This record gives sequence, C-alpha cells and structure tokens, in this order.
Amino acid sequence: MTPSIRPARLDDVPALVRLRMANAERHAMLNRSHYRFPEVTAVQRYFTDRISRPAEDDGLLLVAEDAGTVAGMSELVPLSAPPDHQILLPVRRAEIHTVVLEAYRGKGIGSMLLKTAFAAFHSRGYRKVTLGVDSENSTGAVRLYEQVGMTAVNDWPLLEFPPL
Ligand SMILES: CC(C)(COP(=O)(O)OP(=O)(O)OC[C@H]1O[C@@H](n2cnc3c(N)ncnc32)[C@H](O)[C@@H]1OP(=O)(O)O)[C@@H](O)C(=O)NCCC(=O)NCCS
Repeated sequence: MTPSIRPARLDDVPALVRLRMANAERHAMLNRSHYRFPEVTAVQRYFTDRISRPAEDDGLLLVAEDAGTVAGMSELVPLSAPPDHQILLPVRRAEIHTVVLEAYRGKGIGSMLLKTAFAAFHSRGYRKVTLGVDSENSTGAVRLYEQVGMTAVNDWPLLEFPPL
C-alpha cells in the first residue's frame, strides 16, 4: 500500500514524539557535542500545542502514514523576516525538518513528504525552503534533498571554541 501524506492530528502526538527521538538518536550519533535528546515532555507539549492551537502562520506539520503506522514527518518552520536594517532580501522563507522511522527508510517516504510539503508551502506564498544538513549524515539525507530538486547553495565549516 502506498503511504499517505496528511496534516498531523492530535492523536499523532505519540508518533511525532517517537520520530523526534529517532531524529535525535541519528544526530547524536553524528555529533554529541552539538545535538541532544530533548525531554519527552517538552516535545509532547510542543506538538500538542502546535496542533491544538495553530497560530496564524506556524508552518506545516505533515505525517506519512503507512498501513496505520505514522512512519515519518516533515515540519516546515517559517523563519522570521529580516528586520528593516538588515541587508537580506525579505523573501518568505522556512526551514524544513524531515525524519522517517528506521524500519521505513529507503522506501520513498522521505521524498513523498518533501514534495508534498514544498507544493503546500509554495501555494501559501513561501518562496524559499532551506535546511542545514551534516555532510556526514549516513542516512542518505543529502542525496534525498538533491533528488527532490534542492541544491547546495553553500558549504561552510562550523567553527567553535573547544568546550570551555
Ligand atoms: C533522511 C531520511 C529522512 C530519508 O528518508 P527516506 O524515506 O529513507 O528517503 P527516501 O526513501 O525517500 O529516499 C530518497 C532518496 O534518498 C537516497 N537515500 C535514501 N536512503 C539512503 C541511504 N541509506 N544511503 C544513500 N542514499 C539514500 C536515495 O537516493 C533515494 O533515492 P532513490 O530511491 O532514487 O535511490 C531518513 O533516512 C531519516 O529519517 N534519517 C534520519 C533523520 C535525518 O537525518 N534527517 C535529515 C536531517 S537534515
């Protein structure tokens, strides 16, 4: 059966929490000094509030349901417009975060989520969707984004002081 992509509902919150934790797990494996496992209660609160009290423009939260299981999600988070004094063009922009449960990866769910999210966002007047991806991400994230039409516009080193 082909997975269906739909807006998240309140009864999806436990699945959304599971997906956020799956994302944390993957990222913590990449870089423990940069990523963390958020508190489950904080994640639950965030998704519950977001779905039950949607703000006027709080982006888009899509899930992929495969035979009754919520197997993936894509979250588009609008970025605030640059203040008048800055030089960035005031293009409506959003960031996208996508995760698919490990057992469901490699079946096209990630690309279905992204394509649906881009189409929905474009129809709402958004013109730029950006994201940062770790070049060492071993789950095929870079390839996935390229496959749905995104291109790398920048490739920069992340500089830090060593932990103080
Ligand atoms: C990245 C992620 C969302 C991809 O989801 P997915 O459902 O597996 O992706 P798809 O099956 O739609 O794959 C789309 C393309 O990505 C590439 N891809 C997917 N998995 C891959 C892998 N393990 N290795 C290399 N390329 C891969 C393939 O090119 C695939 O295209 P193809 O089917 O034509 O070969 C998923 O692996 C994931 O949740 N990873 C952990 C969280 C994460 O890193 N998110 C991204 C944060 S920036």
